[in-house]
Amino acid sequence: MSIKTDTAIVLKTQEFVKLKLANAEGGHDWFHTLRVYNNALRISKTEQVNLFVVELAALLHDIADSKFYNGDDTVGSKIAREFLFSLNVDSLIIEHVIKIIENISFNKSIDNTTLFVSEELKVVQDADRLDAMGAIGIARAFNYGGYKNRAIHNPDIRPNLDMSRAEYKASTAPTINHFYEKLLLLKNQMNTRTGKLLAEGRHAFMESYLKQFYSEWQGKY
Ligand code: ADP
Ligand code: NI
Repeated sequence: MSIKTDTAIVLKTQEFVKLKLANAEGGHDWFHTLRVYNNALRISKTEQVNLFVVELAALLHDIADSKFYNGDDTVGSKIAREFLFSLNVDSLIIEHVIKIIENISFNKSIDNTTLFVSEELKVVQDADRLDAMGAIGIARAFNYGGYKNRAIHNPDIRPNLDMSRAEYKASTAPTINHFYEKLLLLKNQMNTRTGKLLAEGRHAFMESYLKQFYSEWQGKY
């Protein structure tokens, strides 16, 4: 039996994540987390899920992204487990949330290293993927590219559609390539009905953005 109510735990988790992500890169900050949380609530309306698990996993999914911890993908789950334990959250719930955090990442799906599946994971994964698409997805990609000092576009460097997980994680390619290597692939990887529906519009927006981008690049006014 947990001492606090689910609502109190969710509020505490929001406070914790907000503080933890105070200095995070702009595309992986508290507002990214909040958007993913809201997407997850929306998607959950048409799915049969444990909402408490979805809420906690959405809030904690980027608490320590391995990209910002020298590739170490154990930090986030460790912080999340300790935090939830300190709030006396049921251990089965904690383990489910941790499994979601460990398996949500796009790069895990590249080598098919995902070993865990649950309806709650599908919801949070779709919520996170949606935030990588559309106008927000474009802003996040260029923000990350700037953070890593990547070129915006280089026509001489072709996108690599056949990268291993290690190659994907080590890539220093221009940000436009990331559209072909990840962002435009997301629409067909959505898990849920609502996720698929919302992805359509965001995908179309990215396609029209790229069309305009190339036309400006080529000096077609
Ligand atoms: P995940 O965190 O799900 O494994 P990624 O590592 O691909 O997914 O990155 C999450 C977000 O970070 C992307 O949606 C994008 O906004 C940004 N990002 C990651 N890698 C790149 C990149 N090479 N170029 C531009 N943006 C990137
Ligand atoms: Ni995320």
